[in-house]
Amino acid sequence: MNPTYPPSHLVSFFLVLTSFISCFGAYHQNPNAQMLNHDHGYISQAVHHPFVTTNHRKGNDHKQWFPSLLTAKVVARRGTKANAPVNSPKVVNVDDFGAKANGKDDSEAFKKAWSEACSSKRSAVIVVPKNKSYRLKPITFSGPCKSDLQFLIYGTIKASPRISDYENDRRHWLVFENVQKLRVRGGGTIDGNGKIWWVKSCKVNKSMPCKHAPTAVTFVDCMNLIVANVRFVNAQQMHLTFQQCRNVRALNLVVLAPGNSPNTDGIHVTGTQNIRISKSVIKTGDDCISIVSGSKNVQATDIVCGPGHGISIGSLGAGNSEATVSDVFVNRATLTGTTNGVRIKTWQGGSGYAKNIMFQNVVMRNVSNPIIIDQNYCDRDSSCPEQASAVKISNVTYRNIRGTSESEVALKFDCSKSIPCQAISLQDVSLTREEDGERAKAACANVKLAKRGKVSPQCSRG
Ligand SMILES: *[C@@H]1O[C@H](CO)[C@@H](O)[C@H](O)[C@H]1NC(C)=O
Ligand SMILES: *[C@@H]1O[C@H](CO)[C@@H](O)[C@H](O)[C@H]1NC(C)=O
Ligand SMILES: *[C@@H]1O[C@H](CO)[C@@H](O)[C@H](O)[C@H]1NC(C)=O
Ligand SMILES: *[C@@H]1O[C@H](CO)[C@@H](O)[C@H](O)[C@H]1NC(C)=O
Repeated sequence: MNPTYPPSHLVSFFLVLTSFISCFGAYHQNPNAQMLNHDHGYISQAVHHPFVTTNHRKGNDHKQWFPSLLTAKVVARRGTKANAPVNSPKVVNVDDFGAKANGKDDSEAFKKAWSEACSSKRSAVIVVPKNKSYRLKPITFSGPCKSDLQFLIYGTIKASPRISDYENDRRHWLVFENVQKLRVRGGGTIDGNGKIWWVKSCKVNKSMPCKHAPTAVTFVDCMNLIVANVRFVNAQQMHLTFQQCRNVRALNLVVLAPGNSPNTDGIHVTGTQNIRISKSVIKTGDDCISIVSGSKNVQATDIVCGPGHGISIGSLGAGNSEATVSDVFVNRATLTGTTNGVRIKTWQGGSGYAKNIMFQNVVMRNVSNPIIIDQNYCDRDSSCPEQASAVKISNVTYRNIRGTSESEVALKFDCSKSIPCQAISLQDVSLTREEDGERAKAACANVKLAKRGKVSPQCSRG
């Protein structure tokens, strides 16, 4: 998917990253985070974190701003504005702006609520009340806002089911654009009402033209963003995209769509730096997490995935484009019945790199391609011609990867002839066949491998 927004200017992100990580340490104690089935033994064991440095800077701006998700309490009732203490946030309830939650369109009320909150000089909270279902057409919630904002979704936000409502922009439903210090949380649901789009997908019905469907929620050019405790269901296409964002925490998310729903990626990361996705359950019809060009410092921790297409870097380099992805750390994931486990896929003819990638502590259950690098990715009916240039793949580590493969080939490195995969390291890998528990196979081409500990299956020499 190509970004359709201009890239934001770069920031000095690295110092921000280190302090960002340290200031989120408290979230590990989040008692709401127990939705994952931590049923594999090592999940609770402390794991060395390659991105956390000892440089724990204090006292910067967003350390002061990012409060604990647990201690930040908000009075969510109506009519509390008059007697609110001076320092409490301004509460903006969508019902006060005419939202009815009666099956008719509530878009105008949400737009007014956003504009009220966004222009507030003191921090503001938009409340979407519980036990109600609000109907929205495509909306862009734009910043910059005057203060920090919370979007508290207790109830349900549901997409308009009329495709004609998306005439102006078929790629997006809800967009948060150019907002800083935004928190979206509340335990509610964002429902893309995707069925009407899926039946029109050319992947589902070959007689239909191939057209895009909207991404349910897009954050673009956002900075210091938290999305926590939200359910995303039945997106029109992708569920949640972070595009050109900096400093993002996405945690305790549940993303659900049928396994056969087309292109319904769970969380898509593009052009985004310093993002931590954690404690999330993703069951959809496409990649659980997809990470594409321009992304750097991406962590995904404690992920339950499947059905779906697994955790994917790429595809990269489509249409001879340059792509760069680096510093991706996937730690503690369980993939069940997915078509891929951990995958890197690039098109021939691209350029750039995918490097410094670690997949660690991953359990595969009946996964079709548990470990795969595909530098000859081709998502077309006709085959793709051989090309010399490629996105260079280097420094990829697979550490403690166990479980079962649905197919015979559990490990596949299909690398470029002209630009082989370099410094690919396998450490303690054990994958057997789901069917009979027998030894699985490895298929390896043009790859420079290092091996530590027990590794099975292994590439044959030569
Ligand atoms: C929501 O509905 C549940 C079950 O009907 C009820 O117990 C609860 O009080 C309701 N909450 C609100 C805020 O209306
Ligand atoms: C596919 O789309 C065509 C054209 O709209 C329609 O006639 C047909 O019933 C659809 N097939 C399925 C399986 O939905
Ligand atoms: C390889 O990648 C890891 C992160 O996975 C990083 O810590 C390390 O510095 C990289 N090594 C080189 C030689 O770049
Ligand atoms: C493994 O996956 C295949 C294909 O998705 C499925 O047919 C089979 O029933 C699965 N096996 C188990 C034990 O779940």
